[in-house]
Amino acid sequence: MRTPLIAGNWKMYTTPSTATVWMRALLEDLTSQDVSHVELVLNVPATHLAVLAPITAGTPVALGGQDVSAHDEGAYTGEVSAAMLANAGARYCVVGHSERRQYHAEDDALVGAKVAACLAGGLIPILCVGEVESEREAGEHEATVIRQLTGALEGIDLKDSGDLVVAYEPVWAIGTGKTATADDAQAMGAVARSFLKGRYGPLADAVRILYGGSMKPSNAAELLAKADVDGGLIGGASLKRDQYLAIAAAAPR
Ligand code: 13P
Repeated sequence: MRTPLIAGNWKMYTTPSTATVWMRALLEDLTSQDVSHVELVLNVPATHLAVLAPITAGTPVALGGQDVSAHDEGAYTGEVSAAMLANAGARYCVVGHSERRQYHAEDDALVGAKVAACLAGGLIPILCVGEVESEREAGEHEATVIRQLTGALEGIDLKDSGDLVVAYEPVWAIGTGKTATADDAQAMGAVARSFLKGRYGPLADAVRILYGGSMKPSNAAELLAKADVDGGLIGGASLKRDQYLAIAAAAPR
């Protein structure tokens, strides 16, 4: 069985100071709540990594970034490289989030370059794909996700199934309170898995495919019970410790 990955995406919330208090409290909560059946990762603002890394070292909580430069290094003012994120304490990095695609005009080719940058720089990319509402209404959701996966994984060789995580996040479900039904999440997880099998063969069986979009304690158990929903990428609820841990507890044991 694939170990469920319960990934928070803090987006642009908290400061290094408030995050420090939050993280210490989470680790305290973990002394009395057993969620050892899942892997926990929090994808935090880049400014937080070096502050949180010493606090989470040796604990079950891993850290991740939310975006990465496609370049290794150079005169790219404002950019942060994969090696910088990894050195500051990140193990994962969200790539191609719909908010990056929407507000920063990231296309599939750039997302693919960022996936490659993660792998070269020692980070596990959490590759986000998902259709907007009009694509779903037009019945184009599967084609959209396959196009995004094709573009982002072109030229990417996978050596280990643990080197990639895919997150299916229907854009209409992000921050809206609208959740895909568990059956829809499963159907799209299966679409992604079948694409990955065609691309990488049996390795794809162990790649984790997450669902994201208004995941919360009340819907997590049903979503996470599905065969091709191997975890969650959680926005709003991951900023609330009790909700984040309740989602982790809802994953199948
Ligand atoms: P919400 O859980 O707030 O809908 O956000 C989902 C998301 O965008 C995670 O990356």
